[in-house]
This record gives sequence, C-alpha cells and structure tokens, in this order.
Amino acid sequence: MRSTRLKVGGFALAIAVILSLTSPPSSHSQKRENVEARINALLARMTLAEKLGQLQQLDGEANGNFRPEHVEMVKKGLLGSTLNVRGAQRTNQLQRIAVTESRLKIPLIFGFDVIHGYRTIFPIPLGEAASWDPAAVERAASIAAAEARAAGVHWTFAPMVDIARDPRWGRIAEGSGEDPYLGSLMARARVRGFQGSDFSAKDKVVACAKHWVAYGAAEAGRDYNTTDVSERSLREVYFPPFKAAVDAGVGTFMSAFNDLNGVPSSANPFTLTDVLRGEWKFDGFVVSDYTSVEELIKHGVAADGAEAAREALSAGVDMEMVSRLYNKHASELIKERKLSQQTIDEAVRRILRIKFRLGLFDRPYVDEALERTAIFNSASVAAAREIAARSMVLLKNDHDVLPLDKNVRSIALIGPLADSRQDMLGSWTGDGKAEDAVTLLQGLKSKVPQTRINYAKGCDIGCDKPDGFEEALRAARESDVTVIAVGESAEMSGEAASRSSLDLPGRQLELVKAVQATGKPTIVVLMNGRPLTINWLAENTPAILETWFAGTQAGNAIADVLFGDVNPGGKLPATFPRSVGQIPLYYNHKNTGRPPDANNKYTSKYLDVAWTPLFPFGYGLSYTQFKITNLQLSAERIPLNGKLTVSVDVENTGKRVGDEVVQLYIRDTSASVTRPVKELKGFQRITLQPGEKKRVEFLLTAEQLGFWDRQMRFTVEPGEFQVMVGSSSEDVIEKSFEVGSNPY
Ligand code: NOJ
Repeated sequence: MRSTRLKVGGFALAIAVILSLTSPPSSHSQKRENVEARINALLARMTLAEKLGQLQQLDGEANGNFRPEHVEMVKKGLLGSTLNVRGAQRTNQLQRIAVTESRLKIPLIFGFDVIHGYRTIFPIPLGEAASWDPAAVERAASIAAAEARAAGVHWTFAPMVDIARDPRWGRIAEGSGEDPYLGSLMARARVRGFQGSDFSAKDKVVACAKHWVAYGAAEAGRDYNTTDVSERSLREVYFPPFKAAVDAGVGTFMSAFNDLNGVPSSANPFTLTDVLRGEWKFDGFVVSDYTSVEELIKHGVAADGAEAAREALSAGVDMEMVSRLYNKHASELIKERKLSQQTIDEAVRRILRIKFRLGLFDRPYVDEALERTAIFNSASVAAAREIAARSMVLLKNDHDVLPLDKNVRSIALIGPLADSRQDMLGSWTGDGKAEDAVTLLQGLKSKVPQTRINYAKGCDIGCDKPDGFEEALRAARESDVTVIAVGESAEMSGEAASRSSLDLPGRQLELVKAVQATGKPTIVVLMNGRPLTINWLAENTPAILETWFAGTQAGNAIADVLFGDVNPGGKLPATFPRSVGQIPLYYNHKNTGRPPDANNKYTSKYLDVAWTPLFPFGYGLSYTQFKITNLQLSAERIPLNGKLTVSVDVENTGKRVGDEVVQLYIRDTSASVTRPVKELKGFQRITLQPGEKKRVEFLLTAEQLGFWDRQMRFTVEPGEFQVMVGSSSEDVIEKSFEVGSNPY
C-alpha cells in the first residue's frame, strides 16, 4: 500500500514538473507573485517610520470625518489606515493626500464596522443566523459590501464569529449564536458576501473575522472579562467559525480584548501565530481591537507601553487600532534587540498584501457618483424586508391566533417598541439612519390601511412607571386583537451591554399581563438582542413572535409575518433558558456520569428549576405543520474514511405553504474522550406546498464524525454513532450506524 502511494505521488510530481516547464504559470499565481515582488520593492524603499506608519490605524470622527492630525500624518507616510472615516468624497480626499503627497504613495485602507448593513440595515447577526439560510445571509453581506465600498470603505470589521453560550453577554447579538457548525456556515456566507471571489471589485470589501478568540466565553457574561477555555473547547467550539472564515478566504482577523488562559488574545502567540499562520496558513493581517495593545498593561502582562508593543507585535498583531505604542516604541525595541526588524517587515508585508489585493495601488479612489445610486436603493430595501421576515421565529401560536385576518376591524398596538425607529436598527447601525427605519406601527398601517390601529405605548423601554398602562388597556378594550411589542432597547445588547437578568426590563411583563387580562387575543412581538427568560409568556400568551432587531424594514417584515404573507420559518440559533441560573445552557453539552433523571435525586439538575431549556436550540414553529419520517441510512457500517447518506421524508401536513429547517445531529456514543450528546452536522431550509412531501438528503463524511483526541490530534474513531434528524435539537427521530476500524 505504502509503495503504491509513493509511486502515485512520484508520478503526479513528475507530471507537475513537466507541466510547469511547458505551460505558463496560472494568472492567479502570477498575480500573487507580482504582488509579492511589488511588496519587496516597496519594503526596500521604506524607512522604519514609514513602515510603522503602515501598522497604525487611527479613529475618525463619529460622523465619518477624518481629523486634521490624520492629514499631517498621511502626508508624511505615518498613517496606514483609519476606522470610521467614510463617504466617497471624504475618503477620496484623504486618499488623494496619501497617493499624491506622501513619499511612497501607499494608499490608505479605510475600515468600518459594517456588521449587518451599511445604510440599508438588515437584522442583527443573531437574527440573520435564525434564518438558517446561508444564501440569504450572503446576500445581505453582499449588499452591505456594495454600499460600503461605494462610500469609500474598503474593509469591514465583520463577520463577528464568536460562539456565545451565555446570553448575559450583550455581544451574543453580533454573532451567530451557540453552535460551531451553524456559526461556521454563517461565517463562510458572510465572508463570501463581503468579499466575493475578488475583493478588489468595486462592490466588495475585505472582511475581518473577529474577535480572535474565545471572547464569547467571558466569565459571567460580563463584557471584556477573563476567559479560561481548554484547548479542546477552543478547537471544537470556538475555533471552527474562524477556520471556516479562513477557508472562505477572509483577508483579515481582529485580535480580541479578553485574556485567554492567562495570555491576552492580543498578545497570544499560540492563537495568533501557531494556529492562525502555522496550522491554517492564513496570509492576511491581524488588527488589534480598539486599544487592546495598550490594554496589555492593565491585563498585567506588560509593565509599560514598550513591553505591550513588543508582546503584541511579536505574537502576531500586525496593525494597532487607536493606541500608538508600535509607533512610539518599535524603533527603541529594535535598537535594544528586543524586537527584530523582520517582525516589523512581516507585519508591513501582510498589510500591503491586502492593500494590493484590494486593488488600492491601481484604483485608490471610489466613484463619487456611484455612491448616490448604490446606497439604500429600492432593491436593497426590498432584500432587507425579505431577509428580515426570514429571520423571525414563531415561538408560540396556540389555536392558530396567527396569522391575523386582513379584515380585522381594529388592532390595539401597544408597547415601548411598537413605534421606535432607532431601536429597529439594533446595535452597530453602520451608517444606518433612524429615519429610514419602518416601525411596527408604520408596517401595520401600510399592511392593513382599512383597519383602525389604536396605538398606545404603555411605557418607555425601562418601564419603571405604570402611568401609561391605563391608556394601553383602553386601546386593548376598544380593539378586536392586541399586538404588544416588548423587549429590549437596541443599546441593551451589543458591546459593553451585558445584563445579569434576562427578564423583560422593568414592568413590561406587568403591562403584558394587564393587557392580556382584558380578554382580547394577545400577540407578543419580541424585539431583543439575546435569548430572554420569558416563562410567563411561554406559559400564558397565545402567540409569541421573536423578531430580534429586524433592521431598516423591521415593521414591514413583521407585518408580512403577522398577516401571513410570509410564513415564519426561522429557528433559534441559541437556547432560551428558563432562568439565568441555568446559564451556560446549550444543546451540545456533555452527558455527564449522572445525566438528569427526574426520579433520581443524585443526578445532574437543579432543585428549583427544570434542567431543560424554555425553548431549545433549533426550535421554531410555522403556520403550517411538518412531519419528518422514514429516516434511512445508506449503510449500517462505513469504513473509517467513508461516507454516509442520511435521508428523511419531510411532509407539509398543514394548509399553507411553509418552510421547514430540517436538522441533522450526530452523537458518538463511546469514544476516547467524552462527546456532546448532540452535534449539528447539517441542515436544509426547504419550502413545501400544502400536502407536498420531499425526500431530504444529507451527506455525512468521516471528517464530520471526527474530534480532537487526548493528544489533541484530529481523529475519527471506530464505533457506534447515532444520527438524529428533526425539526429542532429536541424533536428528532434517530438511527445508529457503525464506523469500522479500517479505511477503504
Ligand atoms: C471595539 C469592538 O470590540 C470591535 O468589534 C470593533 O470592530 C471595534 N471596536 C472598532 O469599532
């Protein structure tokens, strides 16, 4: 066997050599070689100060302007990048200074947080992930890219691919939730959407996978807090979406704020160099997070600015965001031989490489006329409405209260979020404008213009006083049905927005209870950036629609769903707990030696709350019903490197056309290390007509069955596996198969 392999390899090598002598190199590799040659030529001409300039990124003004200081620095070649500077005219103006007035004419790279839209705002990323529709997510990112690039932005600080198992952490809103597989598919979709196949295109930007790494594991869900994560969990839970971003060709990474196992992420050679560059062969650059280089001092791993610069640079952080320690200290560090010239050159090389790939040396400016047509055009707005509706999750719908009848005479629309434009945009609003946003009040008015809408706010978002309750109750009494929009304000999630309670803020629940007590059918529309503890609602309210923060077109999209023009098909990308005390609560946990058993006290559970979630990962209803049956495996036994086809029948047994997200999970029942009770390995969102039945097929490859063994080697072990297919992580049918001990 061994000698056959060698022979095959030798033959292939010989062919490759012959081919390389006879045919010209591919244009792709030629291009790459040219870029490296141009970088070498530039590096040879750069002074140390100019090199350090490339490593510096400074913040513009919140309104998108650059600062007078930037102009002076750019002229001298002392600034390589800005963040927040945007707008075609302004970026062109500063770029012109870089490429005409600086000695080496190196263009600037303009970065900006284009997280879920530039001007046309899509649902928050957690909401987009709830669509379980990577194609839709890719489309949203590609529209965001086109708008951003037209406004002179080359680089988005997205996707945020941090796995989050703790909804207290406000930044769960910015990612794809708790699961590495769903997170990886969303990461890939977003990178593709932002970058396309060539991010030099005039409608593309370079993406940035952040925050490297394990930032979402912040202790107690408190933002910026310490993380302590085993290498196994890093590799199995936190790394995969980053790896997926690298495989999709992501151009940049951002190092995180958190310290990880005692070493801050912005000075961590294991993650920044060994894994990212060594194992994964990433050849783009890493930018620090905002002042995270300087923060190494507060972390207590650097005594002063010089040490902080040395640690971050030598660990592999190429560009420094906002703090200026590289510029201040690198030359003395080199003189003192604490840092090598080569480390600086390597960082500059990586940054220039991305500037070349962006085409900035050849086309440094953007077309100012394009900005007017490319941004917030009707096609983008229509896409925002469609994608927003796809991201909504129907949590409850007793007695088919929803969809509402368009002939309804009157609706009471109540709640602090029913008419709040700014909140619809969620956290990270890019260049989005509150005045572009459609609220639920506006959405209902345009959906059912004949219906009387009795609007009463009830209370502000904090809801500390019941002053407005009476008016809300009056509106409810005077109407046929009540729609009540409750949840969080946009600022209650996102960065620096952790909460210790996941309840509806203030007296919002009291408001819902009072309204429901009027006896009118009550529909709760949730708007929020994280899973909430909504036990009373889950128990007592007939209908609950989770809408996240749905973006510019929120109100129209919610109205589309409430009235059944769109049948909701989203599924939860994160578990909804019953109580904060259950956190972290996630579906892909380990079994323990004493899995919960209601009849046995000495098993893993609580005295005061069930061990189960309120709503599990992957859960979501529809206005129609689906049946998943007839699970078949193509084999009962596969070799170690084999493949397996898994198929089921999915039937729409209800009366409306609708979408089901068919989910495939596996479990390795006995392995050399403990394995999760379930791991998502595939899903498909499909649309079925009433009565329609479809066979849905998944291909399971051996690699998807593998894990990191006790020696931290990726391995597939022989033995029994369970396959589970269903409509959520808890509603599945299952079968088993064996993986044999031999390869083919
Ligand atoms: C800090 C945040 O952590 C990061 O996600 C963001 O990209 C930067 N600020 C720049 O705004």
